[in-house]
Amino acid sequence: MTSDKLRLEGKVAIITGGSSGIGEATARLFASNGAAVLIADINDSLGQLVAGSIPPPGRCTFVHCDVRDELHLAAAVDLAVATYGRLDIFFSNAGVAGKTSAILDLDPADLDDVLAVHVRGAALAIKHAGRAMVAAGTRGSIICTASVAAIFGGLTPAAYTAAKHAVLGLAKAAAAELGEKGVRVNCVSPFYLATPMSCTALGLESAKMEEISCAAANLKGKVLRAEDVAAAVLFLASDESGFISGHNLVVDGGTTAVNSTVPKLIEELFE
Ligand SMILES: NC(=O)c1ccc[n+]([C@@H]2O[C@H](COP(=O)([O-])OP(=O)(O)OC[C@H]3O[C@@H](n4cnc5c(N)ncnc54)[C@H](O)[C@@H]3O)[C@@H](O)[C@H]2O)c1
Repeated sequence: MTSDKLRLEGKVAIITGGSSGIGEATARLFASNGAAVLIADINDSLGQLVAGSIPPPGRCTFVHCDVRDELHLAAAVDLAVATYGRLDIFFSNAGVAGKTSAILDLDPADLDDVLAVHVRGAALAIKHAGRAMVAAGTRGSIICTASVAAIFGGLTPAAYTAAKHAVLGLAKAAAAELGEKGVRVNCVSPFYLATPMSCTALGLESAKMEEISCAAANLKGKVLRAEDVAAAVLFLASDESGFISGHNLVVDGGTTAVNSTVPKLIEELFE
């Protein structure tokens, strides 16, 4: 069944980390599907540039927001409601890679910061988005960016892996509580893709990062891009996923479904 109706017509969304990468791609896709979008990010210059470049004028706006600060998140939610009259979608997506150090060299300050951005940031986002949605009786959708690092270890530093596992746990806990009020909470979990965060963390050019992502992923012949993640987020944000809550939508080309070490090991043993 096809429909010409825009998938987010009349809806209002907040996107944290919307100045760049996955958040920016999602802001563009949400807006082109009829949503009013408030980008909430610490990168003011980029955020204002992105918001201003999304048509039509006024469809997308920017607010400075550090997700580690509860007052910033509460203010962003209140601003969206004051500006656009309601809040239907909150995409909690802001993230940092943290130091690429081994667990034996773990820096406690880095651990605290990674947990503060991802876990405290997502928890407070859910709290304040949920508050506005429940108060207005809105059947809202909250989506958190987790990662394949929420499923297995070894791919990213321990602090990041721990933070993403916690984001997934938070989303499930919130889905259990907010489901009673008609609010859905889900995660999207991308595999490695080229964005400023990943390229800077690994010291790689975008093209090299894409080459590595492609080589490491199970699915071949397709490069994972921010737009692919945004498409998954759009599904979770729209009414098409109206009975989906507490779910982790993995965007990894099947990579976490395959344990490539075991078949290789068995093959070697039988040689
Ligand atoms: N790139 C990948 O390989 C990958 C894979 C899986 C999950 N993720 C996750 O995707 C999300 C988006 O990251 P991206 O890859 O698009 O990177 P990105 O660097 O393009 O975007 C991250 C955004 O978060 C913002 N941000 C950072 N700290 C913030 C804070 N305290 N408050 C508000 N905003 C803040 C940055 O300014 C930036 O705009 C992150 O949660 C990341 O962990 C990324």
